[in-house]
Amino acid sequence: MDHVLMSWREIMGETRTMKVISLRSLSYAAIFTIAFVAVGRAEESKTDSIPKQQLQAKLLYCKTCHGVSAQGFRGAFPIPRLAGQQPEYIKNQLRAFIEGRRKNAVMFRVAHVLTPSMINALTAEFKELNPKPVGGAPKQLVAAGKAIFENGVPSADVPPCASCHGADAKGNGEFPRLAGQLDDYIINELTNWGKYRGQNPAKPDTSAIMAPIAHELTKPQVEAVAAYLSYLQ
Ligand code: HEC
Ligand code: HEC
Repeated sequence: MDHVLMSWREIMGETRTMKVISLRSLSYAAIFTIAFVAVGRAEESKTDSIPKQQLQAKLLYCKTCHGVSAQGFRGAFPIPRLAGQQPEYIKNQLRAFIEGRRKNAVMFRVAHVLTPSMINALTAEFKELNPKPVGGAPKQLVAAGKAIFENGVPSADVPPCASCHGADAKGNGEFPRLAGQLDDYIINELTNWGKYRGQNPAKPDTSAIMAPIAHELTKPQVEAVAAYLSYLQ
């Protein structure tokens, strides 16, 4: 758990130059994955298979909000893409809704009735989906967003997003996929990070890693990186 709680400054150590960070990024991601997997395993239950019909019915239910191919959906507010998302990330977020680490009344109701085997089956299904991104973000922001994703914002001590989320933004373990995510959802999360995530003081979690990063990014930087990510396949 100690690994999980380190700030990125500690993770990145004194490696200030971007060159060093990008060279070392892979091994940092690997260290985190190991730490997360260890945490996740302790809470994982056995994975009995569940009837196909039951799984399909539940999937259909998720898709009524998350989109017919889980590509995300824009209603009164943005509902995130789940297609291609990392199973470990989804499992951790479902636990976060249940444990009040992440506060959302709708997802609390959805998540707390799911059995461990249903969660395993659902996450495996979402991982296989690969619909086209919904799009709709301002295209003129994409180039600036790409630069932030690849290089971070050195002047504000923001490390490259790619160092944790992967060069292709597909994520790994508890590092979420960001590719194809709705830009307005990303903007919403990043600008409200401290209000939405890590809300249960008794259960500090992986959201702490993103907190300083979300905090340091300016609104225009958030909008740019969100636009870039939203078009990635
Ligand atoms: C009634 C609408 C609704 C239904 C049904 C629903 N969701 Fe959600 N879901 C949401 C909303 C809204 C959010 C965004 C919550 C937030 O902003 O914190 C969300 C967020 C999530 C997240 C977090 C995604 C991320 O990128 O962090 C996961 C995981 C998730 N839902 C899984 C599911 C699963 C699995 C099902 C089906 C069992 C499901 N949802 C059904 C509305 C719904
Ligand atoms: C040091 C590792 C690290 C770096 C660097 C990093 N992230 Fe993250 N990010 C994470 C982790 C871990 C999570 C999952 C947080 C949680 O569990 O709540 C996350 C979550 C997110 C989410 C929420 C995704 C969702 O589906 O709700 C967004 C958006 C995000 N990061 C964007 C970025 C952007 C943009 C950058 C670069 C400016 C960045 N991240 C850099 C580790 C990192």
